[in-house]
Amino acid sequence: LRTAVIIVAAGSGERLGQGIPKAAATLGSEPMLGHALRGVLAAQIAAQICVVLPRGDTELRALVASLQEGNDVQLMTVDGGSTRADSVRNALEVLSETDAVLVHDAARALAPTEVFHRVLNALESGAKAVIPVIPVVDTIKVASSSERPDIAPEQVRSTPIRESLRAVQTPQGFELATLRKAHDASAMFTDAQAAAITDDAMLVESQGIPVYLVRGSELSLKITTPNDLLFAEALLEGPAA
Ligand code: C5P
Repeated sequence: LRTAVIIVAAGSGERLGQGIPKAAATLGSEPMLGHALRGVLAAQIAAQICVVLPRGDTELRALVASLQEGNDVQLMTVDGGSTRADSVRNALEVLSETDAVLVHDAARALAPTEVFHRVLNALESGAKAVIPVIPVVDTIKVASSSERPDIAPEQVRSTPIRESLRAVQTPQGFELATLRKAHDASAMFTDAQAAAITDDAMLVESQGIPVYLVRGSELSLKITTPNDLLFAEALLEGPAA
């Protein structure tokens, strides 16, 4: 399948607290985006890669340009939007007509090659949508506002069976036409509905299209907080000798 990859890297990084866009935060010896982009290149699956960057950024743009040298893959950059879904939509507008598209978070900078291949293999077998997942280790509760706010602001509404829960990662893979249609349909969403979109698969699910699950990786953690960054540094260094 002719495949494009979108890397969304336009987030502000507020929860990381470094005062710079998250994708520019240093992991090991280079910005997080460098790891994410080299990970996609190493998987050798993309004909075209579109990186979505914070509006006005020049540093990350230069990083992308530096990785273009010596590569046949077409690298492009576009400005991000105010939500992750807006950022993905901006990239979908500039992609040429590939068969498939993988959407990947720069924040999952250490996603291994095998995961890209598992996602693409499922698309090649005929899936229109496929996402990598790992089992959930915590018991998860659904919360609602409390009947007794004097005790606590929230109480348990329900407890989904843990066995059936999966934590969702990226890259998420789609038939390009399917993802475009799902994003077009979401243009009608209210602000509250738009704010609730946390991944691309949700939009495809709402079109009634089956979304298949493949095995993700513990290495694909989403680097969000300073602790996550410490953990990712340790993963990069590998086990102590
Ligand atoms: O904010 P969140 O943690 O969901 O971000 C997931 C990914 O989406 C990150 O890689 C971030 O850079 C990207 N993002 C984006 N544009 C936004 C918000 C987030 O590209 N407006």
